[in-house]
Amino acid sequence: MTRLYLSCDSCALSVGADELAQALTAQLGEQIDLQRTSTRGMFWLEPLLEVETPQGRVGYGPLTTEDLPSLLAADLLNGGDHPLCIGLVEQHPYLARQQRLTFASLGHNRPLVMEDYAAQGGWSGLQRALTLSAQQIVDEVKESGLRGRGGAAFPTGIKWQTVLDAQAPYHRGFDEAVKFIVCNADEGDSGTFSDRLVMEDNPFQLIEGMLIAALATGATRGYIYLRAEYPHAHRVLQQAITLAEQQGYLGEAILGSHHRFHLQVRLAAGAYICGEETALLESLEGKRGMVRAKPPLPALEGLFGQPTVVNNVISLASVPLILNKGGAYYRDFGQGRSRGTMPLQLAGNIRQGGLVEVAFGVTLREILYDFGGGSASGRPIKAVQIGGPLGAYIPPAHFDTPLDYEALAAIGGMVGHGGIVVFDDQADLGQMAAFAMEFCALESCGKCTPCRIGSTRAQEVLARIRQGEDAEDNLALLTDLCDTMEQASLCALGGMAPYPVKSIVKYFGEELHSVSQTPSAGGQH
Ligand SMILES: Cc1cc2nc3c(=O)[nH]c(=O)nc-3n(C[C@H](O)[C@H](O)[C@H](O)COP(=O)(O)O)c2cc1C
Ligand code: SF4
Repeated sequence: MTRLYLSCDSCALSVGADELAQALTAQLGEQIDLQRTSTRGMFWLEPLLEVETPQGRVGYGPLTTEDLPSLLAADLLNGGDHPLCIGLVEQHPYLARQQRLTFASLGHNRPLVMEDYAAQGGWSGLQRALTLSAQQIVDEVKESGLRGRGGAAFPTGIKWQTVLDAQAPYHRGFDEAVKFIVCNADEGDSGTFSDRLVMEDNPFQLIEGMLIAALATGATRGYIYLRAEYPHAHRVLQQAITLAEQQGYLGEAILGSHHRFHLQVRLAAGAYICGEETALLESLEGKRGMVRAKPPLPALEGLFGQPTVVNNVISLASVPLILNKGGAYYRDFGQGRSRGTMPLQLAGNIRQGGLVEVAFGVTLREILYDFGGGSASGRPIKAVQIGGPLGAYIPPAHFDTPLDYEALAAIGGMVGHGGIVVFDDQADLGQMAAFAMEFCALESCGKCTPCRIGSTRAQEVLARIRQGEDAEDNLALLTDLCDTMEQASLCALGGMAPYPVKSIVKYFGEELHSVSQTPSAGGQH
């Protein structure tokens, strides 16, 4: 019997992985043992079928059911040659060049099989954490240099220290002095999917990360605030939580210890602003997702007024390895104040879209060309937007910038959640500048004037510039407006919406002045 592997991730499912699985089973029956695993994150190859051979796993993709006759004729079950064969998967340059720490299991595990998780080193971090004091766990995370992967890059260990040190007041509704771990799984940034990959492809890793956060801070309850547009992740998480409860990882007396932790999933409200941590907490409390003024910090007065850790999925999913191998091990990757690895997500007009987890320090050029293989259209890349809809557009002149928090900030950019959206030379960046403000106006929670009013006024000013109306005066007005939004907005939605606009004014200024006739060549993935 030959063992085959095919992803059950929603990306693979969306391009026919289930149909392929059915056809394989119907045609080959007892000859094969078809395992539905996590994806490799090489999305342009999905559905990617892998065949176990004595040399290693040989890959074929992207496949449709129509390819099966020719594949079988080419001796698929022995890794035979075929135009869609990519050779040994582990040796594919896209994978071989990566440093997968957080995503080391991708392609190897079946997402809901606990034995697979344990076989990949799962639960080792938790087991070690159970032997440490809360302070020792926090110290290990501090040592790792991990900074929040949700966008703001705040040091995770310091946030945990604040919650550990906080005295939780008694809460009548929960009948205890409760602290919370809230996982921000709203993943609203354009071109991003790494949170989804953790939740769909290795859900126990997130559960383990949240458990360790709970041990580190004394939290007893947790919520995953999940993007409602991720129904597959929702199903997987629910099943994973049930399995973890049945095996004693969640609930009372975790693995026989005196620790307890109850975890639930809550579906998000479908607004970008609900990813902002204070709006998220409002939404989780059942209210409209409006931003709260800070202070108080959520770490001190968060969910229902109790001390709360709010962390992104990737931040939490990085923690099991840090506890398992030690903070110093993780810290050894990366450069400067950007330690460890960053799961970058390549999207837009790019030939090889997918997940690229590498240590900080790799250049944008390497990401775009060595991993991404250039634009999907084959045309020159004109710009990349990094860090979601509030990120700057970076021109080719800066493609040799190393990817780290400080180096990107120095050129007006940001790492954010690691989404990289690629645009070729046909993209109309004037249109994208207008889109940035349109997005802000649509998604604004309305609490503060610079964002609520400023984003609408900025759209009007941009339209006048594009029509050639008093261009110079209007550009000066736009600059003023951007400065006001940046400095006076209550949160980063209004505060950073000017970033893409300012980068387009700076690097692609001429495009603001003409309404382009060519269609935008933006997203492909
Ligand atoms: C408008 C806006 C949207 C955001 N959306 C998300 C999101 O979808 N996911 C996320 O993890 N963080 C998001 N953030 C960042 C969170 O406010 C917060 O910094 C993060 O959840 C903290 O976790 P971390 O320290 O692990 O990154 C957003 C921030 C803003 C201002
Ligand atoms: S900047 Fe915008 S989204 Fe943020 S608080 Fe103000 S109005 Fe709300």
